[in-house]
Amino acid sequence: MAGRRTNLALLALLVLAFVTGLVSWLVGSALVRWVVIAHGIVGLGIVVLAPWKRTIARRGLARRRPGRGTAIALAVLIVSSIVAAIIHVTGIVRSVGTFSPLGIHVATAVAAIAVGVAHILQRPVRPRMTDLSRRNLLRSGAILGAGAAGWLALAGVLRATGARGAGRRMTGSFETGSGVPTGMPVTQWLHDSVQELDPASWRLHVLDGARTYPVDELARFGDTLRATLDCTGGWFAEQEWRGARLDRLLDGAVGESIVVRSVTGYSRRFPRSDASALLLATHVGGAPLSAGHGAPARLVAPGHRGFWWVKWVAAIDVSDEPWWWQPPFPLT
Ligand code: HEM
Ligand code: HEM
Repeated sequence: MAGRRTNLALLALLVLAFVTGLVSWLVGSALVRWVVIAHGIVGLGIVVLAPWKRTIARRGLARRRPGRGTAIALAVLIVSSIVAAIIHVTGIVRSVGTFSPLGIHVATAVAAIAVGVAHILQRPVRPRMTDLSRRNLLRSGAILGAGAAGWLALAGVLRATGARGAGRRMTGSFETGSGVPTGMPVTQWLHDSVQELDPASWRLHVLDGARTYPVDELARFGDTLRATLDCTGGWFAEQEWRGARLDRLLDGAVGESIVVRSVTGYSRRFPRSDASALLLATHVGGAPLSAGHGAPARLVAPGHRGFWWVKWVAAIDVSDEPWWWQPPFPLT
């Protein structure tokens, strides 16, 4: 009986952890702080349940039956994910080879989705109305309370020991290369090869090619913007970006949204009304962009995580579709 409740509580916490983790990448405003804190509390709530789940697992493992391998694989993934998350939070280790602890955290958590679904299908638990009793709701509150206490304790220890993790931004990212563009790591979603484009032959195509700009003409707009690039890989940097504001490039163009497309085919869509807040940058920190950071021109999208900052921009268009008419995370 108690085992059933533990498994159901674990299920609820796992779903909440996935949702808050993913939402923390989607929210750009100051709200992200609360999403990240909620994520930490829920994640540590899972740690709080570990002793109970250990008892269940030990009993289950003693009865060798099909589904054992799935259960063990799930345990390995979830434990790795949580250990990697806590290493990230402390800031003690910033990379394991080419991987960051945060990257390992997210990759193992995402891999755990399929394995977790298989585990639940192989070890089904049927919820009952009494699971929603007052007493059980109070118990759930106690788990979250313990998760919150754990979160506060962790934050307190980081601060008291002066660990690097105490200086994380509200998104959980570490400052890396602010004011020194060459200090920023080179990372991108989906297309892991840097595009080396020839600035002499490259052209920006605006409004289906109705206007085209070579790079020096874009640079002459001279619009500057101080903005923070916050990568989902777990680092951020504040820089002075220079180039052309999108409201100037799209002057007079009517539409619901702006589509910014890379030479790789990668694209992101923004509300048309955001044009004056977006910059197509040719320079950062007074120097031309490097290939790794999107030369000849990349998008600067303040308040959006790094995967919105399209690199190697080829075209900017307006469209009648609303900005949210796109996958929340880019797939191609
Ligand atoms: C943190 C995520 C979880 C991990 C690491 C995990 C791991 C395990 C392990 C290692 C076992 C013992 C292996 C076996 O029975 O052959 C087990 C058993 C079991 N798990 Fe999970 N599990 C997780 C979440 C869940 C969830 C969300 C549910 C259901 C909602 C669930 C339901 C069960 C059931 C019913 C058993 C069998 C218990 C028994 O027969 O004594 N588990 N789990
Ligand atoms: C099995 C699902 C997951 C679990 C159990 C989990 C658990 C945790 C835990 C325990 C922490 C450390 C909390 C803290 O003290 O701040 C954490 C941090 C973090 N997680 Fe997850 N997580 C899961 C999935 C995800 C996913 C899917 C994402 C993103 C797509 C994500 C993104 C993050 C980020 C960005 C941090 C760093 C927050 C910070 O630095 O304060 N997590 N997670």
